[in-house]
Parts: sequence; structure tokens; C-alpha cells
Amino acid sequence: MDTLKDYLTIEGLRVRLGGQTILDGVDLKLAQGETLVLLGRSGCGKSTLLRVLAGLIQHEAGSIQWNNSSEAHRVAMVFQDFQLFPHLSLIDNVMLAPLRALKRPYEEVRLQATELLKRVGLADRINHFPSEVSGGQKQRAAIARALAIEPSLLLLDEPTSALDPELKLEVLQVLEDLSKNGMPMILVTHEIGFARRIAHRVAFMDEGRVAAISDPENFFKSPASEKIRSFLDCLDHYRS
Ligand SMILES: Nc1ncnc2c1ncn2[C@@H]1O[C@H](COP(=O)(O)OP(=O)(O)OP(=O)(O)O)[C@@H](O)[C@H]1O
Ligand SMILES: [Mg+2]
Repeated sequence: MDTLKDYLTIEGLRVRLGGQTILDGVDLKLAQGETLVLLGRSGCGKSTLLRVLAGLIQHEAGSIQWNNSSEAHRVAMVFQDFQLFPHLSLIDNVMLAPLRALKRPYEEVRLQATELLKRVGLADRINHFPSEVSGGQKQRAAIARALAIEPSLLLLDEPTSALDPELKLEVLQVLEDLSKNGMPMILVTHEIGFARRIAHRVAFMDEGRVAAISDPENFFKSPASEKIRSFLDCLDHYRS
């Protein structure tokens, strides 16, 4: 990945929330088609970083730069608790942003939404409501919804944390497929096995910064600090 051109460059990103500095100089680069897994202790700023990148909160210093500035860049986010609209069917959830925000034609949007739901294994559930499907199906629908805006970057904040093991697996399989197809993504997850196998690089956040970043093999085999080693030990310890 290092040989590829940078796709996204984040430099010196600083965010304050409620009078506190939450992100304190985040530097991070993403390569074209890269899957980056983001790890770190609770409260270190992982969700905040994703929320800034998604445009949900503002940064007070630093920069977020796309390498190809001539294109429009859209960022989509997937949350731990799915956040589907409960009053809309799965297909209507997927169609909402392309219709309302992107103002694309209905028939085209419907066709694309059907394809996306098929791609995540929900061809037979498109007219179901969120309350009528499993957690894994809800999360796969949420991923289809994120993809519907044809994002330049997909952000996933602990997308499998609320799911039982078998349901986790079906969501991780969808993510593996996206990763293999070159969808640039930043994924916050405690699924270390997945990170090892799928991530191009793994980053460790600490105190509002990216404290270490490397390829998964080195990241896990020779942790860059004692803090990372003990963090990984904790994850191992509580893994069911
Ligand atoms: N809206 C807010 N106002 C004030 N402080 C906030 C706000 N949102 C987050 N924080 C604080 O920012 C810090 C980082 O939070 P964040 O949610 O980014 O952590 P995280 O790394 O995602 O943690 P977790 O692993 O528990 O999800 C925490 O100390 C949190 O309390
Ligand atoms: Mg979080």
C-alpha cells in the first residue's frame, strides 16, 4: 500500500468537545483502496475521528485533504447500532439518500438499491422493515445504504459489536468482499482476526492521536509499545 499514491491525507487534526481536547493532532494517510483498522482504548477518540471525517462534527485545526480534489467526495458511515429508519422498509432506507440528497431518478435508484441489497445477501428481504429482520440483516442493510451514495470512503464504527457471533460473521464477510473490491475504508473493530486477515494497515490511537500504524503482521507480532501490547492482551483475555 505504501507504494500507492495517497488517497486521503489527514494532518494535525484537532477537535474540542465540551471544553476538552478530544483529538489532539491526528496524522493519518489512506492509500487508494486501503482498508485501515483503527484500534485503541475506550475514550481515545476513535468515534470522534470517524465523526469528523463524516462531517458530523467540525475540527478546530488541521486538515483533511483528498488527493484527487477534482472529484466530489462523499463519506458514508455505518454505526454500531445500525441507525436504520424504523418506519422505512430496507429498500426505502437504501433509496433515501440517493433520492433526497443526490436527487437521482427514482427507477435508477430503485434498481441500484435492489442490486446493493442483493450484494449483501438481502434479496429476499427488501420490503421488510428493520423490526422484522435480524441484527446481522439490519447491519447489512445499513452497509447497503452507506454504499448507495457511492462513497469515496466508508467509515464503520464497531459495526459488529452489537451482534451475536454468527451474525458477526455474515457482516464481516460483506466487509471482506468490499475490501477485496477496493472500497477505501476505516474500520473501528475489536475483531482482531479480521484485522489480521483483511486490513492493509492497523492504526492504534492513544490520547487523541495516532500513536502507531503498521501492516497487520508487524502490528500484532511486534507491538510498537508496552501500551499496545497490554491493550492486545486485554482484547485476547475477554474474547469469547
Ligand atoms: N459530544 C461530546 N461532548 C463532550 N465530550 C465528548 C463528546 N463526545 C465524545 N466526548 C469525549 O471524547 C472522548 C473520546 O470519545 P470517543 O467516543 O471518540 O472515544 P472512542 O475511542 O470511540 O471510545 P469507545 O471505544 O468507548 O467507543 C471521550 O472522553 C468522550 O467522553
Ligand atoms: Mg467509539
